[in-house]
Amino acid sequence: MDVRINLINVLSLILVVTSRGTDATCYLPMQNGVWEYNYTKVSDNLKHSTTLIIRTTTLQNSVINLNVYGTTIDEWTCINSKLLSNTEGVVVFKSDISFTSGPNSGNRWLYLCMKLTKVTNDLYYFYLLSDIFPNVSPKERVYASKGGNAPADDAPMCSTFCQYTGSPKIRTLRRQGTNDELPDDAALCEPCDNTCEVDRCDPNPCQNNGSCTDFKDGYNCTCTTGWKGENCTTAKTSSSIWWIVGVVLGVVVVLVLIVLVLIVLRKKRKSTFGVTKRNIDTSSDDHKNGENELKEVEQKLVEKT
Ligand SMILES: *[C@@H]1O[C@H](CO)[C@@H](O)[C@H](O)[C@H]1NC(C)=O
Ligand SMILES: *[C@@H]1O[C@H](CO)[C@@H](O)[C@H](O)[C@H]1NC(C)=O
Ligand SMILES: *[C@@H]1O[C@H](CO)[C@@H](O)[C@H](O)[C@H]1NC(C)=O
Ligand SMILES: *[C@@H]1O[C@H](CO)[C@@H](O)[C@H](O)[C@H]1NC(C)=O
Repeated sequence: MDVRINLINVLSLILVVTSRGTDATCYLPMQNGVWEYNYTKVSDNLKHSTTLIIRTTTLQNSVINLNVYGTTIDEWTCINSKLLSNTEGVVVFKSDISFTSGPNSGNRWLYLCMKLTKVTNDLYYFYLLSDIFPNVSPKERVYASKGGNAPADDAPMCSTFCQYTGSPKIRTLRRQGTNDELPDDAALCEPCDNTCEVDRCDPNPCQNNGSCTDFKDGYNCTCTTGWKGENCTTAKTSSSIWWIVGVVLGVVVVLVLIVLVLIVLRKKRKSTFGVTKRNIDTSSDDHKNGENELKEVEQKLVEKT
């Protein structure tokens, strides 16, 4: 009985764990609060500065306020997120309410896909990674689900909600009352699920045909012969001459050693030849004995016949 109950517990635990594993979860990198939101409005292409109130996972009564087929949407809940690095991630917000675009099309939802980069605790920038949806007012980069066919909240974010063809513009979120500045090189690193790791080897900083290796926090040049330095820009001069002198000296020493060894070996071989000669000479007695024996046998044979 006990064993059976334990087994059932274990099984239900496994079920809970596996079903949890497929649930979408959202971790917003920025903290709750009021954020100064700067962006270029898609509809008029003008810069706007407003405030966005961010709760743990929601945007409520937000300035991201869209009208779609007569339904007003200004409340959003984050349904999934993906951390790409310590400073980058993708989050997807889904509209709290659905809309219908006609009598038979069923419920539809709007989604905001943000690719976020953290600059400091008080400053983030993001891109809305969806193409402009022309049926919302004002026009915005939102993904709209198809009628009666909303994707699961845990659908792969980048291939479902974050598809875009036109280049999005940077938007910033700065905690109200702070004054961190956006770095000059703030840029979208495409595609959606790639981190923004700059390829330090492109363009190749290694001059004079040096080859470049990209590391997490730098690059390394492997220079062709005759060049050195961080970027292989310094010609090797005196040091390379000493290097060549060293190699030549080394080769000479090795050659002298080989010759010495050969001479010693040769002497040794001569002395061993002497020994074998003497051996042969002494054995010549045996040889003579053998000849005598042969003669005796021959004589015996002659006597018999
Ligand atoms: C947002 O825009 C306002 C008004 O133009 C400006 O004062 C502020 O510095 C901008 N914030 C960021 C983070 O660039
Ligand atoms: C780099 O290599 C190419 C071909 O391998 C050669 O034509 C060129 O002269 C080299 N450049 C330098 C700066 O050594
Ligand atoms: C780059 O190469 C040099 C010389 O081989 C080596 O000492 C250094 O550790 C390398 N740097 C990295 C980041 O691997
Ligand atoms: C090597 O090249 C990089 C990138 O072009 C540059 O920032 C750096 O100052 C150069 N280093 C030297 C020693 O010239």
